[in-house]
Amino acid sequence: MTNPAALSGRDLTRVFTTPSGDVHALTEVSLEVRPGELLVVRGPSGSGKTTLLNLLGGLDTPTSGEVWLGETELTAMSEPQLLEVRRTRLSYIFQSFGLIPVLSAAENVEVPLRLVATPGLDRERRVAEALDLVGLAPHANQRPYELSGGQQQRVGIARALVSEPEILIADEPTGQLDSATAATIMDLLSTLVHERGLAAVVSTHDPLLMSRADRVLELHDGRAQPRGRHSAA
Ligand SMILES: Nc1ncnc2c1ncn2[C@@H]1O[C@H](COP(=O)(O)OP(=O)(O)O)[C@@H](O)[C@H]1O
Ligand SMILES: [Mg+2]
Repeated sequence: MTNPAALSGRDLTRVFTTPSGDVHALTEVSLEVRPGELLVVRGPSGSGKTTLLNLLGGLDTPTSGEVWLGETELTAMSEPQLLEVRRTRLSYIFQSFGLIPVLSAAENVEVPLRLVATPGLDRERRVAEALDLVGLAPHANQRPYELSGGQQQRVGIARALVSEPEILIADEPTGQLDSATAATIMDLLSTLVHERGLAAVVSTHDPLLMSRADRVLELHDGRAQPRGRHSAA
């Protein structure tokens, strides 16, 4: 293969056991994302998007099936190995931005670099670059409450990119934004993914955001729906 997948899911199934019975959140879903590709996972509320993204990001373990990062099996890793992967190779972007309220934009972006003990000068340079990438350099010293929703999500994107990951996972990153702002955030994500050769998985329930996708995975009741030439597997 000339261009192997950066991230793949093979027959991913997740069954939650609850007091009122088993919940089949995801059933035998397979997908592949190559470097420089944006896969959009689409489906109504409750269709299994968050469950799938949590499995792909190593935040949850499948009942059966496998997740692979390139040629390494994520689902076979120990907790310390997973932690290392989440700090260096894979980043998450959250619907609710996940920013620390008492920290400035720049300090929020710096958090992942502090976790891997990046030297101070290097940290400053990389934080400035990441903020610049998302167009937020002029707002570096503002706290989240002094920023609009779209600007806060740009901080979330800068924080995800500052560790220079190979893989980006974003669970409904535009879910709390108005539709015009959502479109600009999807444009930014798509530009960054293509320019930087990232493999990205982004979920949304908004059909208007599909035009930025290189591949689409449509979920219904935890199962992948066939979509012809754009299908993800
Ligand atoms: N921790 C859990 N325990 C039990 N059921 C869950 C849990 N997480 C998700 N589910 C169920 O799995 C299904 C898929 O949920 P989810 O992945 O959150 O969908 P989406 O993100 O598309 O809205 C839903 O029926 C949800 O109620
Ligand atoms: Mg969800």
